Amino acid sequence: MPVHEIRHPLIRHKLGLMRQATLSTKSFRELAQEIAALLTYEAAKDLPLEPAMVDGWAGPTQVERLAGKKITVVPILRAGIGMLDGVLSLIPGARVSVVGIARDEQTLQAQTYLERLVGELDQRQALIVDPMLATGGSMVATIDLLKQAGCKEIRALVLVAAPEGIARVTAAHPDVAIYTASVDDGLNEDGYIMPGLGDAGDRVFGTK
Ligand code: PRP
Ligand code: URA
Repeated sequence: MPVHEIRHPLIRHKLGLMRQATLSTKSFRELAQEIAALLTYEAAKDLPLEPAMVDGWAGPTQVERLAGKKITVVPILRAGIGMLDGVLSLIPGARVSVVGIARDEQTLQAQTYLERLVGELDQRQALIVDPMLATGGSMVATIDLLKQAGCKEIRALVLVAAPEGIARVTAAHPDVAIYTASVDDGLNEDGYIMPGLGDAGDRVFGTK
């Protein structure tokens, strides 16, 4: 599955604002949700539709509506919460599955500490949201969990992706499409994306 780097002017502008080290927590949060909504718009472009009849102003009218079970949005805690409302602003009926994963700062290994998935995942499309795709460990662990629960249609929305993380996800899960605002240069020796956004969880939650 291809990587979609969405080079829309609004996304480029908003991401540029987010890269400012002095940006307030409030603005960082707002921009993360806004870019998440714009990525959702792109990722939803080929969602299946089904015909439906409604009572229109001039009588019965054929319309279209999203087909199948409600989508599940899957924020990876903590930082994924910073994109959740942006997705829900466009898909307000989506179900939310929460996965808690923390990256060990020394080993960079992803440790799963929480898993609350919605039911009937075999019939739902999942949209995973996390601002940062760095080594890819957290994303691969999340996709593993969803697939073990029966989910077959998975997309990942990330604000910034490192080539290393893209390579790891696509090697492990070639069927999962990645939508990102930017493919950045790569990881530094501490596993941070360059130029990246810094620690996205800290910036969303105002910690540190
Ligand atoms: C960050 C980020 C991703 C992960 C990316 O979360 O939000 O989940 O790191 O790194 P990876 O691709 O190398 O796995 P972190 O583990 O710092 O937790 P937090 O969201 O609670 O701050
Ligand atoms: N997690 C972050 O929050 N930022 C990075 O650059 C890498 C992982």
